[in-house]
Amino acid sequence: MAKVKCLAALLLIALASTEAALGPRGYGTRFGSAPLLERFAWRILDWNYPNEVSRQQAIASGDFQPENALPVGIEIWRDKLFVSVPRWKNGIPATLNYIPLNSVRGGAPKLNPYPSWAQNVAGACGSGLTTVYRIHADVCDRLWVLDVGTIGIGNTTVQACPYTLNVFDLTTDKLLRQYRLRPEDVNQNTFIANIAIDLGKGGCDDAFAYMSDELGYGLIVYSWQLNKSWRLYHSYFMPDPLAGDYNIGGLNFQWGEEGIFGMSLSPIALDGFRTLFFHPLSSNREFAVSTRILRDESRAEDSWHDFQVLPERGPLGHSTAEVMDDNGLQFFNLVDQNAVGCWNSLLPYAPSNQAVVARHDEAMIFPADVKVNRGLLWIMTDRMPVFLVSTLNYTDVNFRILTVPVRDAIAGTVCDNSPWTYTGNQLGGPYGQPWWDR
Ligand SMILES: *[C@@H]1O[C@H](CO)[C@@H](O)[C@H](O)[C@H]1NC(C)=O
Ligand SMILES: *[C@@H]1O[C@H](CO)[C@@H](O)[C@H](O)[C@H]1NC(C)=O
Ligand SMILES: *[C@@H]1O[C@H](CO)[C@@H](O)[C@H](O)[C@H]1NC(C)=O
Repeated sequence: MAKVKCLAALLLIALASTEAALGPRGYGTRFGSAPLLERFAWRILDWNYPNEVSRQQAIASGDFQPENALPVGIEIWRDKLFVSVPRWKNGIPATLNYIPLNSVRGGAPKLNPYPSWAQNVAGACGSGLTTVYRIHADVCDRLWVLDVGTIGIGNTTVQACPYTLNVFDLTTDKLLRQYRLRPEDVNQNTFIANIAIDLGKGGCDDAFAYMSDELGYGLIVYSWQLNKSWRLYHSYFMPDPLAGDYNIGGLNFQWGEEGIFGMSLSPIALDGFRTLFFHPLSSNREFAVSTRILRDESRAEDSWHDFQVLPERGPLGHSTAEVMDDNGLQFFNLVDQNAVGCWNSLLPYAPSNQAVVARHDEAMIFPADVKVNRGLLWIMTDRMPVFLVSTLNYTDVNFRILTVPVRDAIAGTVCDNSPWTYTGNQLGGPYGQPWWDR
């Protein structure tokens, strides 16, 4: 029954999408069966310079080259929408930026450097951010920002500064902590785009960061309390050699080397720990490990059997970012399908327990990041493969930030068919405890 419902929902999305594609774009455009709102849409990115003279000077000098800017990450904290832009090419004025949501409600807003222009100077190791991908705001009002320190992409990459974790106090915009990864934490292939932040039962100091090394095939753990990092290896971090071929945005290309990428953390389970879900980018599979293992440095060398293999998502299952909300609902970007999928973690991880919650063949080409904030699902799409493999068409809309209430997104899908129940203080479902909590 759930499956039938899910198919019907997909059909609705497909039909509505055709209609939406013919309609007007811009603020208020809706896609799919759920009201997917196009909040922001850009043909090309621009920045709020102190004045137009300085902007023109930056363009004239090459310090600002708008066609080189591609947004890759988002985060939402109160009235700030953060947008990260890597320095893959020259002329990116700032890598960490925000849009003030209280005053900017739609359109193609110019970006504002966060926390300042001075703290976004490339190659200013220790004082400026060079390249930032995905970022995370925690419930303790801290923004976790991994500066990978690189300028360029692929064979043009220069490591201008060491990999450095920066944690900002969002209430004061001051840097709370800066931690350089140890040389042993990285290797010559290291490329880290994603981080996950694990807050335990012990409050704000009981925090760990997990950083996935996509091309160096490792997981780096940072303990806030110990102010210390270490590196883990597992063969589950490797790409699946059969899953390296992609067809996205009308392009065929091969990303065969892409290993461990998107990660998400479950709610805290009965044993006091979360589960980290993760997947290599070139793979249709999800894996899982308890944070009990990750948090214990002594287990770094001896944890092979503590990692779990989950069933495959099925064909067209490549996924970039993923997120899990406080109810154990996971959302994951399905880049082959121009879509975002969901899985209710009270049910076993299986294609029959997953559904597409948003899909649009024009507006959602390459969903790069996904977040849940106060019951709202945020999706950023950026046509990244077209940018990297070909060239973007700058008379067309290329970058979008879309939202849909989680409740509407999952309505009528298998992700919505298990009423939440609470036993004591613990989350449970019709099948009892979630599988990761048994
Ligand atoms: C770098 O890679 C690009 C395409 O990926 C290729 O065209 C170029 O020749 C390469 N340059 C060098 C110096 O290897
Ligand atoms: C954390 O460790 C680094 C050295 O790795 C040091 O420079 C820094 O001051 C330490 N921070 C705190 C808060 O202890
Ligand atoms: C670029 O996008 C515009 C607007 O969608 C479209 O009219 C035009 O045909 C596109 N150009 C190419 C070369 O695809």
